[in-house]
Amino acid sequence: PVTVYSDQNAASVAVAKRIADLIRKKDAEGKPAVLGLATGVTPIKVYAELVRLHKQEGLSFKNVITFNLDEYYPMKPDAVQSYVTFMNENLFDHVDIKKANVHIPDGTLAPDSVAAFCLEYEKQIEELGGLDLQILGIGRTGHIGFNEPGSAPNSGTRLVTLDDLTRRDASRDFGGKQNVPTKAITMGVGTIFKAREIILMAWSAKKAPIVRKAVEGEISGEVPATFLQLSDSVEFILDVDAASDLT
Ligand code: F6R
Repeated sequence: PVTVYSDQNAASVAVAKRIADLIRKKDAEGKPAVLGLATGVTPIKVYAELVRLHKQEGLSFKNVITFNLDEYYPMKPDAVQSYVTFMNENLFDHVDIKKANVHIPDGTLAPDSVAAFCLEYEKQIEELGGLDLQILGIGRTGHIGFNEPGSAPNSGTRLVTLDDLTRRDASRDFGGKQNVPTKAITMGVGTIFKAREIILMAWSAKKAPIVRKAVEGEISGEVPATFLQLSDSVEFILDVDAASDLT
């Protein structure tokens, strides 16, 4: 299903409420909530609202376990552009999550230990019973996570090469495309698919053409987000601008 909001603030508050409700429900069952998280500009207001819910409405992250979608490779965790820094600044530093419950792909691994790390990442998710909810943005290449065009529907966590357009879109954060890493570690399309609920968010007219392809286009590895059409558990949450090309 596709839900369109008048603006990204209203949409972000609604997504944060879904996450908060899930955390409280699992808490009442005495179980942890296992969340798949995204970085980038899209979820920033969702995280801001979760921080507000923590500070003002007592939402606790003590029983929350998180797995981030991706990290650049190579990348030092304390670099300003790292997804570790992003998550700390936008969410983790402001809530009561246990740092041991936070998982983000490790951008510091030696090349020959990446494959084992990726298998372990999958195993950790599986041993917790899978992701309860996965939050996604979408890149202009049609990527989800960093699953660029050519990704297989059953792909798992792995080292990937970033598309040129993705590196161009990231160039501002790095002071030029030449400084953007060429690779990343990402959960696979298959990893994302196994989540019990998936929410893909997109805001602004810049995303409208790719949102149209993702929601209405032919299902193909050329636009990995189209694989989501095959899932019964996915919801596209858009603002009016991102939805403006939908028929
Ligand atoms: C981020 C991620 C990416 C972004 C996508 C959109 O963890 O996996 O797929 O969601 O590149 O980025 P923004 O939100 O910056 O437009």
